Amino acid sequence: DKAGFKHFMAKEIHEQPSTIAEAVRAYLPVGDDAVTLPDGGLDFTGIDRVVMVACGTAYYACLTAKYWFEQLARLPVEVDIASEFRYREPPVAARTLALFVSQSGETADTLAALRYCAGKAERIVSVVNVPESSIARESDLALPIHAGVEIGVASTKAFTCQLSVLLILALKAATDRGALTADDLADHIAALRGLPASINAALDQEPAMESVAKRLAEARDILFLGRGLMYPLALEGALKLKEISYIHAEAYASGELKHGPIALIDNQVPVVVMAPRDELFDKSVSNMQEVMAREGKVLLISDDKGISEAGDGVWQTIRMPRVHDSLAPILYALPAQLLAYHTAVAKGTDVDQPRNLAKSVTVE
Ligand code: M6R
Repeated sequence: DKAGFKHFMAKEIHEQPSTIAEAVRAYLPVGDDAVTLPDGGLDFTGIDRVVMVACGTAYYACLTAKYWFEQLARLPVEVDIASEFRYREPPVAARTLALFVSQSGETADTLAALRYCAGKAERIVSVVNVPESSIARESDLALPIHAGVEIGVASTKAFTCQLSVLLILALKAATDRGALTADDLADHIAALRGLPASINAALDQEPAMESVAKRLAEARDILFLGRGLMYPLALEGALKLKEISYIHAEAYASGELKHGPIALIDNQVPVVVMAPRDELFDKSVSNMQEVMAREGKVLLISDDKGISEAGDGVWQTIRMPRVHDSLAPILYALPAQLLAYHTAVAKGTDVDQPRNLAKSVTVE
């Protein structure tokens, strides 16, 4: 049942205010300013490092979480693609938390990586959407993301719920390790509880995204740029666009632009810059100027302040509400998803069942 939407993907994108609210409520019960984990939980005091393993969109959720665990909890994190990890057979040091992220909980490479870590890591934890899945069952602790059934092959609501749960887990790690003040914790919790309202405000910008998407649909190549927490999201935006619109898209950390990809820029190439007005914003402005100086078409996704400070010469803008810096990748997932969605609709592709892809990749 598509609930009146043309595609499951559209329905699932619009469900995000409620799915995120559900995930936040499950781990941050109302009336208590502390993280609650199921099934005896997890104590990070015995953990020295985290290894996160996943595929596709779930891998990008892990890359985002690396920033949170490292910045908030001062806990070193390695992130790996499951198909690389499993065959590289890396050493797993004592006091390592092995963390697997999977919507389906059945992805063959992720499951094999989990089995490799069993008996080696201190704890095996998974972040899954399907609680009865193989990955959930074989973990010491499974953390459900509460996204509900996701039908569209392109993952949307599962991604933002994965991010929400991973941020909450990083807050737990930060608290256990004494790395976060009570005030900072309270700020993060309040911001997470307010996130569904900001997601709704982002959804209000859908008409602007739809009209930009019609222009993107004419492009042959599109670049996505982001810094810090926005870098993994740039990767996710490029994946989403490729997957359903079949337009070639690539993402780079903005600072990498001048190390090669800037050679691709000309007046045919839209460059999507995801940049809330955070402490790295000035750096992103310099990167945009480098693109514009070569006639590249910058699509800036930012907040009011960022858009006004970016100045003239930007091709298109999409306006996001202002949120706590840590939460920006969750909020900015919305324009990444909606741009891909409307570009695909403009191109007339099969949005829910893109060619050559399966929802659950249970074979290598
Ligand atoms: O079920 P999983 O989360 O383990 O799936 C991982 C990837 O196959 C999945 O995220 C894929 O990249 C999506 N189609 C992306 O939209």
